[in-house]
Amino acid sequence: MLVVLKRDYSDLAREAASFIAKAVRANPSLRLGLATGTTMLGMYQELARRHQQEGLDFSRIVTFSLDEYLGLKSDHPRSFRRFMQENFFSRVNMDPRNIHFPDGTITDAYDEYCASYEQAIRAAGGIDLQVLGIGRNGHIGFNEPTSSLASRTRLKVLSPETLDDNRKFFGPGETVPRCAITMGIGTILESRRIILLATGLAKAGAIAAAIEGPVTASVTASALQLHPDVTFILDEEAASRLKQKEYYRQVLEMTAILVPSRLS
Ligand code: GLP
Repeated sequence: MLVVLKRDYSDLAREAASFIAKAVRANPSLRLGLATGTTMLGMYQELARRHQQEGLDFSRIVTFSLDEYLGLKSDHPRSFRRFMQENFFSRVNMDPRNIHFPDGTITDAYDEYCASYEQAIRAAGGIDLQVLGIGRNGHIGFNEPTSSLASRTRLKVLSPETLDDNRKFFGPGETVPRCAITMGIGTILESRRIILLATGLAKAGAIAAAIEGPVTASVTASALQLHPDVTFILDEEAASRLKQKEYYRQVLEMTAILVPSRLS
């Protein structure tokens, strides 16, 4: 596990975009797992800038999105599909045939549908690089506390804390969806590389638990400790409750000398 500490949000967004840009250049057919959320906005903006100004090419990139609300059509203003369309897909040269998203409109045969999403990931050759955010309760995707660490793509009921956090994105008359389809922890852990981004004080407790706490289904991001190639990209606020910050800085310094290819 590598912990990269950045001064502020704009540094964090640039670092994450550099990480992805480097992976895209190394493999123009990269299979990329993508996350939504406000944390991701700066990174998508920077990737779009690199596409427009530096010709970063997404034409052969294949994407699989982590999760989607159940009950929202793909063009619903609050759907994650729409979020991705507006903030990323429409701003780069993605081939629409390469975009994969859980379908939030299904109304039955959930298990079969979720198995087919897993099958699509396998058929594409697996995810090379998975990008993650983190919820205040330490969830990744919508893997709420007590999710099995071996879970696969499935339907998940959202926790009261997550419903509260999501309410701000919905208008006064709108109901916040209570369920979502999400890749499971087992699915996420099969990705070859993972980066997790976190910004702000509200995430500091979740980050400390995920990185320095025990591996537990109560903080599903802690399962990332079991993965051999995870990079946490944090700003100072999100990192503020980590006990070993100085050590992480030293590891970064040595990594830059010994294995610079590990860094963006
Ligand atoms: C939702 C998403 C997560 C995301 C989290 C944090 O719960 N399912 O994938 O990491 O929100 O969102 P934000 O970046 O807006 O704090």
